[in-house]
Amino acid sequence: MKHITCIEDLRELHRRRVPKAFFDYADRGSYAEATLRANREDLQQIKFRQRVLVDVSKRDLTTAILGEPAAMPLILAPVGLLGMQHGDGEIHACRAAQAAGIPFTQSTMSICSIEDIAAAVDKPFWFQLYVMKDRGFIKSLIERAIAAKCSALVLTVDLQVNGQRHADIKNGMTVPPEWSVSKLLDFASKPAWVAGVLRGKRRTFGNLIGHLKGSDDVTVLSTWIASQFDTTLSWKDIDWIRSIWPGKLILKGILDVEDAELAAKSGAQALVVSNHGGRQLDGAPSSIEVLPEIVDAVGARIEIMFDSGIRSGQDVMRALALGAKSCMIGRAYAYGLGAGGQAGVAKAIDLIAKELTTTMGLCGVNTVAEIDDSVVAV
Ligand SMILES: Cc1cc2nc3c(=O)[nH]c(=O)nc-3n(C[C@H](O)[C@H](O)[C@H](O)COP(=O)(O)O)c2cc1C
Repeated sequence: MKHITCIEDLRELHRRRVPKAFFDYADRGSYAEATLRANREDLQQIKFRQRVLVDVSKRDLTTAILGEPAAMPLILAPVGLLGMQHGDGEIHACRAAQAAGIPFTQSTMSICSIEDIAAAVDKPFWFQLYVMKDRGFIKSLIERAIAAKCSALVLTVDLQVNGQRHADIKNGMTVPPEWSVSKLLDFASKPAWVAGVLRGKRRTFGNLIGHLKGSDDVTVLSTWIASQFDTTLSWKDIDWIRSIWPGKLILKGILDVEDAELAAKSGAQALVVSNHGGRQLDGAPSSIEVLPEIVDAVGARIEIMFDSGIRSGQDVMRALALGAKSCMIGRAYAYGLGAGGQAGVAKAIDLIAKELTTTMGLCGVNTVAEIDDSVVAV
């Protein structure tokens, strides 16, 4: 990992080491990918104010996330199928996050189950929930997260209807993948990946196994999942979830001020300004474009987290400058996982931490609390 200098290097290694179907699954966005591109372009347009002759010898990335101490204002976002980027990927990512002193969020759509991760790590992690029609199953998932001592529930609210990713269809993306000659050749050229995934505990959706008859058959599971996202989900259901989940609740996928107002009244402790990394509503604004108005409207009442487009410590600084309290990363660490397992995720976190501390120094700030809109040029 010595010559890896930025997240783009990890992305390139991921591309070389993992079969195309899984790399594209992580990398690509929905439809024409306009929102995917806007996330990056709009972040990069934000310019910093270079400040000089300020004592920046005491730079410190530590902060609090939902009242808990954290080594930096960064969270690993829920990412489905990490165990297909690297065998036992969820466990590797969680261990890297915990070693770095930041939260890891497990996706409902993980390969490892909640219990697999809980048994493999010694600190609490966060659990992300997709609400499905089978409410009995959702209740049992929340109860499993409670039993595993998960320290926050991230309710994702922007995926009751699935945006289409053209690349996934073209790649015959199923779990495990559909076979074709070109795919077999692709897999044969990645023996280390194949060996790693075969060594992993599981190769299907670990949280769903045992729930429905035939659930060890991936086709049965995938069909069930596709038919299960509950399009009736509404604000009323937040009360139902809060009646089961006693802990901290985060609503992920807020992109509009009116929804942010409702989120602030919902009893949730935090919201994530997010467009799901440009994987859902193509044509939606970038997350960074809407962040300031959401912070203005509700930032005093609910903790604001941010994601979609972060690929560097500079990007974290930009989001904090515009009012976010912490940032989630999705692809940035998924690339690290595909590139090098736990060490790759650790590298991604370390790169971002070093870029953030350098950027703080060059902007003349020492602490995360000092980062505000005075560090950016308007
Ligand atoms: C491959 C992939 C899978 C994802 N799976 C989930 C998921 O299961 N649940 C969820 O809430 N968000 C999921 N997301 C969205 C991320 O949590 C996050 O919002 C997004 O990745 C942020 O954008 P970024 O990738 O540009 O950092 C996924 C994102 C990616 C890239």
